[in-house]
Amino acid sequence: MLTSPPGDVAIETRAIALTWPDGSRGAYPFAWLRDSCACASCRHPGSGQRLLEPAAIPHDIHPAEAHLEGDDLLVAWAPDRHFSTYAGAWLRARAVDRPPRRLQLWDAAIARDLPLADYAAIAGDPRQLRRWLERVDQLGFGVLSDVPVSDGEVARVAGLFAHVRTTNYGRVFDVRSVIEPANLAYTPLGLGPHTDNPYRDPVPTLQLLHCLSSSARGGESTLVDGFRVIEHLRAEHPGDFALLAGHCVVFAYRDAGARLRATAPVIELDPHGEVRAIRFNARSLEPPAMTGPDLADWYDAYLRLARLLEDERFQLRLRLEPGELFIVDNRRVLHGRAPYAASGGERHLQGCYADIDGLRSTLAVLAREDESA
Ligand code: FE2
Repeated sequence: MLTSPPGDVAIETRAIALTWPDGSRGAYPFAWLRDSCACASCRHPGSGQRLLEPAAIPHDIHPAEAHLEGDDLLVAWAPDRHFSTYAGAWLRARAVDRPPRRLQLWDAAIARDLPLADYAAIAGDPRQLRRWLERVDQLGFGVLSDVPVSDGEVARVAGLFAHVRTTNYGRVFDVRSVIEPANLAYTPLGLGPHTDNPYRDPVPTLQLLHCLSSSARGGESTLVDGFRVIEHLRAEHPGDFALLAGHCVVFAYRDAGARLRATAPVIELDPHGEVRAIRFNARSLEPPAMTGPDLADWYDAYLRLARLLEDERFQLRLRLEPGELFIVDNRRVLHGRAPYAASGGERHLQGCYADIDGLRSTLAVLAREDESA
């Protein structure tokens, strides 16, 4: 059956241009089209994975002939004498330069509309799991209630939608005060908003923290959307933004059994200039190796970012009760905690790391199941 036919075909110098009936245009470079051929000799029919090696595409690939047949674009290629067919709908869906980001930035006002779900509900109903994961993906964090208060449960929660990443801290780790701690997390001291483990390459992209007991006074958790704060910094202090994105620093951690070290900027950008990640952790930042005015300017920018991250306008404060859990995208949302009383109560959280590719894969599979239902 024919759906809206693409309209006109024009062979340009390096691309085939198609004009849709509504007047919009798509230009498809020759090499891109040849590389995208979906015939059985170019793509494996079972897996859909590409069989064609890019090095096998002639450098002067061009259409000897191209025309429309119904909704399909048919191309005879030269000099490799290959024939390709492209569905109009497939081409139209790829006429956009780059898909819009699905991020939803937030500040302290998010307290009125928390991405909160009941654990049993998301564990038992794929639709509710999908709805909650979509919000986690958009906001970079989520909260669960009524998670059973038992050892290791945090890893079972992560296993619902991702794969736990075991590190030198174990598969799960306990956050409570201990005598002679290797990490300040294991003291009753307050911790400013930070991302975890910036000294790893790659950093864990998801962190889950599950509250097992919280009878100690204090210890409220704080969450901050790092991308929201960086947006503010970029708008108000573009020079500071450029310094933090343009210089690498070293993050390091050492204890009796580990020597970890990674080099990266505090603000990491993608090739489009969009923020990909923030690494911010005062406990593990090494003195930056820069000289002269660069170093002084970098520090001004770093301290400004630090003050913004502590600004109440941007902070969500949560008092975690036993059975509550939060998850953060560790490249985006910073977490911290207020100091708590070392005596006269207990505060025990259990955490684990996982990765966001697993979460997004689960989300895509759930979406496909919903669409085919
Ligand atoms: Fe942390």
